[in-house]
Amino acid sequence: MSGSTPRSTKGRIFSGIKPTGDLHLGNYIGALRNWVAMQKDYDCMFCVVDLHAITVWQDPKELLRATREVAAGMVASGIDPVENILFVQSHVAQHAELAWLFNCVARLGWLNRMTQFKDKAGKDREKASAGLYVYPALMAADILLYKGTHVPVGEDQKQHVELTRDIAQKFNNDFGVTLFPLPEPVIQGPGTRIMSLRDGTRKMSKSEPSEFACIYMTDTAEAIRDKIKRATTDPNLLPDSVAGLEGRAEATNLLSIYAALTDRTLEEVVAETKGQQFSQFKATLADTAVAVLGPINAEMKRLMADPAEIDRILKRGADKACDLAVPILKEIYDAVGFLPRT
Ligand code: TYM
Repeated sequence: MSGSTPRSTKGRIFSGIKPTGDLHLGNYIGALRNWVAMQKDYDCMFCVVDLHAITVWQDPKELLRATREVAAGMVASGIDPVENILFVQSHVAQHAELAWLFNCVARLGWLNRMTQFKDKAGKDREKASAGLYVYPALMAADILLYKGTHVPVGEDQKQHVELTRDIAQKFNNDFGVTLFPLPEPVIQGPGTRIMSLRDGTRKMSKSEPSEFACIYMTDTAEAIRDKIKRATTDPNLLPDSVAGLEGRAEATNLLSIYAALTDRTLEEVVAETKGQQFSQFKATLADTAVAVLGPINAEMKRLMADPAEIDRILKRGADKACDLAVPILKEIYDAVGFLPRT
C-alpha cells in the first residue's frame, strides 16, 4: 500500500459505515474512535457502504449527501485519508461480484439466524427486500475481497463477522484452498454498545423515535447539552463500584459514554463520579461531549463545503482498493473453476 511510512504490521483492517442518515455517537464510539486508534498499526480500509444502505429504501438525493457526509465524518474524526484507503463500496464493482459467490456459499440456515435481519425486517418480513436478507454475504465479501484479518466494529456487528468466518472457512474447505484468513472481530473499549438516551435498553440508532434519544455528530453544542440534560436516569446517586451499576442501564450507558470519550475504563470513571448526583455528572459529560464532538463537527462542515475535495479522496481510495481487489478476485475465480477470460 502506498503512503510515506511502511506499515501492515499487524494485519489488514476492513470496516464500514452505511450512509443512512447522519452519523451518531454510537458510530463514533463503537467504530470511528477505535479506527483512529488502530490506524497506525494496521493496513486499513475504511468504506462508505452504500450497497448496504439500499437494502432498505433510500432517497437518492439523500443517499448522495450522506455518502459524502460519512466520508467527511471519517476524515474529521481523524482517519488519515492518505495513509489509509478510504472509499465508497459501489466504486469497486468486485464487492458485488464476490457477494454473489458468497450467496452460493452461505447456507439459508446461517442467514436465518441473523438477529439483525429479524430486527430490521420485523413483523413485515414478507415485505423486506431480498438484499436485506443476504446482506451478511455482502459484508463477508467486503472483508474477504481484501483478505481482511481484523474487523473493528460495535457489538451489533459481531454476528455478521462470525458469519464471515463461517463463509471463509466453508469456501476454503469446499475448494481445498487456504485462500481466506478467518477475520477477527475487534470489539473493544467501554462503548461497544451505546444505548438510546431515552431508554437504556435500546441501542442508540438513527431509527429511534425520539429526537432526544440520539446524539448526532452534526449536532450543535447546544443540542448535545440539551440531549444529555434530558437523558433518562434513575433516582439514585452514582454508584461507588461497577458492581453497583447492576440493573441501572441508563447510568451504565452514560458512564460508558464518558469513559469512551475520555479514553478511560468504566472502573476509572466510576471512581471519579461516585456519589454524584446525575445533574452534576451530566454537566461534566456534556462538557466532555462538546469538547470532543465540537471540533469534529466543525471539520465535517468545512469538508462538506468542498465536495470536490471529498470526491478526490474517495477516487484515490477506490483506485487503490481496486488494485488490491482485482488480483484477489481473480484468485477466487480460479479456485471456483471459472474459465479465465483471455
Ligand atoms: P452501521 O452503519 O450500522 O454502523 C457503523 C458502525 O457503528 C457501530 N455502531 C455502534 N456501536 C456502538 N453502539 C451503537 N449504538 C452503534 N450503532 C452502530 C456498528 O457496530 C458499526 O461498527 N453492516 C455494517 C457496515 C458494514 C461493515 C462491513 C462493517 C458493511 N460491511 C464490513 C465491517 C466490515 C453496518 O451496518 O454498520
